[in-house]
Amino acid sequence: MLDWQLLTQVIPKWLEVSRKEASFGKVATYIPGLAAAPQHTLGISVIGITGEEIHAGDCGFMFTLQSISKVFSLLLALIDAGENRVFEKVGMEPTGDDFNSILKLELVDPGKPFNPFINAGAIMMASLIGGNTPEEKSNRLLRFTRRLAGDESLTWNESVYESERKTAHRNRSLAYFLKDNGVLLDDVEDTLEVYFRQCAIEVNAKQLARMGMILVNDGKHPTTGEQLIPRRYIQITKTFMVTCGMYNGSGEFAIQVGLPAKSGVSGGILALIPGQAGLSVIGPSLETKGNSIAGLHLLKTLSHNLQLSMF
Ligand code: DON
Repeated sequence: MLDWQLLTQVIPKWLEVSRKEASFGKVATYIPGLAAAPQHTLGISVIGITGEEIHAGDCGFMFTLQSISKVFSLLLALIDAGENRVFEKVGMEPTGDDFNSILKLELVDPGKPFNPFINAGAIMMASLIGGNTPEEKSNRLLRFTRRLAGDESLTWNESVYESERKTAHRNRSLAYFLKDNGVLLDDVEDTLEVYFRQCAIEVNAKQLARMGMILVNDGKHPTTGEQLIPRRYIQITKTFMVTCGMYNGSGEFAIQVGLPAKSGVSGGILALIPGQAGLSVIGPSLETKGNSIAGLHLLKTLSHNLQLSMF
């Protein structure tokens, strides 16, 4: 079990060591709205299912969920459309390719994305969220994330949203390809609207760690006991976090850290310490696969020193 008193002492020290790693990475620039993030920002929050909390470094820094939102859109697609429908539209396998790759879409099972965490798969999940218009779907996802964060103030970063919408040529081409293959049935631009909005939901590490804590608690609210998400859907999502959560870095992450996790190009990582706590780090400087370089270093340090690997 986590020794919270010890953690309060060691985490701030480990964080300052990991912060130096940020020099070796790069802040994402392909979405112009992300480019201004300070390279050496690093924050961490850990929230236990029995109420303990640890926050260190830049844990109040606001960042957009980007690909971390794929965890929540998958959960909501499962809730709204059911497991069978979800797996008619996406597979269960990692690709080994970059997160925005179009390659396997054409090569295997035409048009059906390999999993819900690559961009093509996440675009499909956005289309399965309940609602008649993009606004209804986006609002439904926002309300879901607010509920998990226990914070009604969560909202979209409009300038990051606009910036992605204007420059998303690759995502547009993925979505048109899905449409052409008859996999995506909804309107392409409407579906992309939901996807761009979900990526632009803004959080800090504290809010994200709380969302993770609910997943660790098998979808139950820690104090009211209300089942916010069915246990089976948590199980499916956690498994994807292990196999595909860090994209084509997921295998190495499983060996080096050994926790279910999901990263985003804004530099956030959501990680789950099974049975114990939700954890979030934010560090905008990325390694070549799109994962936070200092965040990865900090998670490796934590996992090695505290024996957190689930394997
Ligand atoms: O669709 C995109 O490219 C971004 N909105 C999200 C990508 C992302 O975060 C991938 N992360 N590692």
